[in-house]
Amino acid sequence: MPAISLLILLLIIIALVIYFRRGKNANPQQDLKEYIDKSNTELFNQFESYHFIRDRLNLKQGLPYTRDWSASPDFLKRIAEHCLQYQPETIVECSSGLSSLVLARCCQINKQGKVFSLENGEEFARASRSHISRYQLDKYAQIIHAPLINHNINGRDFQWYDISQLPDASINMLVIDGPPGFIQAHSRYPALPLLQQKLADDCVIFMDDAARDDEKEIVDKWLTEYTGWQHEYVSLMRGCSVLRKLTS
Ligand SMILES: C[S@@+](CC[C@H](N)C(=O)[O-])C[C@H]1O[C@@H](n2cnc3c(N)ncnc32)[C@H](O)[C@@H]1O
Repeated sequence: MPAISLLILLLIIIALVIYFRRGKNANPQQDLKEYIDKSNTELFNQFESYHFIRDRLNLKQGLPYTRDWSASPDFLKRIAEHCLQYQPETIVECSSGLSSLVLARCCQINKQGKVFSLENGEEFARASRSHISRYQLDKYAQIIHAPLINHNINGRDFQWYDISQLPDASINMLVIDGPPGFIQAHSRYPALPLLQQKLADDCVIFMDDAARDDEKEIVDKWLTEYTGWQHEYVSLMRGCSVLRKLTS
């Protein structure tokens, strides 16, 4: 190829690169504005949910909220609203923490119901119990130290909670916020296969972090493998999957 043709080809490539790079960042100020607007809206929503929980549940001592590990305020608000409206008798929770406190306080307001939280970390179980006691909610919550043990589900091994200490009662509300995703792929998948026999017909399942790919795959697997469930995705900060039994 003559040198002139090579030069023209090179110039065309450079022009294309410049064109596409400009297109990508066509208006960086606009991008920044959209990002800031979105963050402000998100922050406002979480702030509003936090205050809803504190005021509606009259938790004057504030909430022992941790940014990285607590469920987000909008998820806590969602499960609190459900608990106050439907007054479930038996609530089971996979993981413990602020969510246990919020649900126990709802049961106290309802004057009925109890939350049983499965917690694999002994020190986290102790911390959750001490929050529950500080708010004098021991009658409405039991934090169960449930180490992760091997469960073989359809030929696949999962590390999931030891459920031997769960009461022999039908579960009316199931909240899934553990075990943490770093334990294994599809970490929260065993919840449905291992607890489905215990779920009451009116049971509603709430799974936090449903915006993540791993949780989306878990819901897809559940819906494929277990019939009779209806799924609603709620667009909260980290996403929330709500599953209800279909009524015939
Ligand atoms: C997402 S957290 C559960 C949060 C709980 N539902 C709440 O609202 O507070 C899931 C699990 O992470 C573990 N965990 C909690 N705090 C942690 C920390 N600071 N570092 C590592 N793991 C933690 C606990 O075993 C907990 O059950």
